[in-house]
Amino acid sequence: MSENSSRTLWAGRYEHGAAESLRKLNDSLPFDKRMYAEDIESSVAWAQALARAKVITDAESDQMVSGLATVKGEFEAETFDYAAGDEDIHTAVERRLTELIGAVAGKLHTGRSRNDQVATDLRLWLRSAARALTSEVEQLAAALLAQAEGHIETLMPGYTHLRAAQPITAAHWLLSYTHMLLDDAARIAHNEGNLNRSPLGAAALAGTAYPIYLEALAATLDFGGVLQNSLDAVSNQDFVVEFLSAAALLMVHLSRFAEDTILYSSPQFGFIDLDERYTTGSSIMPQKQNPDVLELARGKTGRIIGHLTGFLTTLKGLPSTYNKDLQENKEPLFDTVDTLATLLPALIGLVETMTFNPEKMLAALDETMLATDLADYLVGKGVPFRESHGLAARAVRRSIDSGIPLSKLPIDDYHAISDKFGDDLYTVLDYRASIAKRKATSGTAPDAVRAQIRHLKSQMDR
Ligand code: ARG
Repeated sequence: MSENSSRTLWAGRYEHGAAESLRKLNDSLPFDKRMYAEDIESSVAWAQALARAKVITDAESDQMVSGLATVKGEFEAETFDYAAGDEDIHTAVERRLTELIGAVAGKLHTGRSRNDQVATDLRLWLRSAARALTSEVEQLAAALLAQAEGHIETLMPGYTHLRAAQPITAAHWLLSYTHMLLDDAARIAHNEGNLNRSPLGAAALAGTAYPIYLEALAATLDFGGVLQNSLDAVSNQDFVVEFLSAAALLMVHLSRFAEDTILYSSPQFGFIDLDERYTTGSSIMPQKQNPDVLELARGKTGRIIGHLTGFLTTLKGLPSTYNKDLQENKEPLFDTVDTLATLLPALIGLVETMTFNPEKMLAALDETMLATDLADYLVGKGVPFRESHGLAARAVRRSIDSGIPLSKLPIDDYHAISDKFGDDLYTVLDYRASIAKRKATSGTAPDAVRAQIRHLKSQMDR
């Protein structure tokens, strides 16, 4: 390592090179090099803006732009050689540009700082990463919807407190997650506000001293506007926090879906069969097919929530403008994106290939789950619901004590509870009749679920 190649960009006022331990701690290159394309994109835009402002000549700008294209080519061909002094992606690109085009490269950093540069690069990076993730979340939502379409009439127990509550349809259960995921996709795609405004021109903190037309510059990078306060622009991390919190909430939904599906696919429930390709075996117990994909969805949720709370904690109490603490935004952000990018395809595959066992789901229903229907029957006979609830409860008690299901309990037993019970009560003691009645907009009735599917599909086509 030559003395020079390990010199940093800021070596000017330093007598000694940086200590090795400082470099190890301070360098962000190992994790920020993945932003090379965005760093080059924002540098090209800056070089052109400098020329438009007549700070540099068009010829100088052209030299920079074509040099930057060469650097990008090296990254893409994986032939880019890092040097010992490359502290982060910004210094690496500039160092290489200098090697390629000479001293004129030194004019690129006129009027800008790594502070507004990194803020720009990360926004560009996250904007495209978030787009890719949004489409994967939508694919998962679509996979759940496709499963739902095949199970509009499939009965299963609906649970509260993990105790069987009322009959529902499998489609209704699946679609509950489609709704959550579409909301998540919308939150992640949300690129108004902070993410989509340009920090360029904020320079170190006080704003660039050159006559750069920042709105035009922002537009060349497809930003919707310019962050209006340079102090804010170099330190505002709201776009990171918003993404991390949208991701944390998405993970909470995935984790809950995972938990349901782990239970429903367990031998005890047997409602769902997971495709072999999405389960793992045990090295000692030959009978096992373990739902690792789902367990990892549930397990990785802790890590993503940790990234959100960790980074919020980093931000809390930071004094104004750029502080090196802000470099800590990248690893949690990158890990969140990478975690989702690995998890979502496996979950999509699992959902697409899972199958239901309608007989087992039906067998898991028991008639006490129709107690509300019995109470509603009495409401139809003019009994106030608070009263009918108690009368239906007595019928349930009698059914449990005698071991005779509600639909087989003799009419005399019902008459002993209330004279409002008539022979027609038996028609309500039917699972299909129960779900068919729940046909208001959000209900589990097949007709309501069909309408729900139509609505979701038009939402997804938009
Ligand atoms: N690697 C730094 C980061 O990610 C770039 C900004 C450095 N700015 C500075 N003033 N040291 O935050």
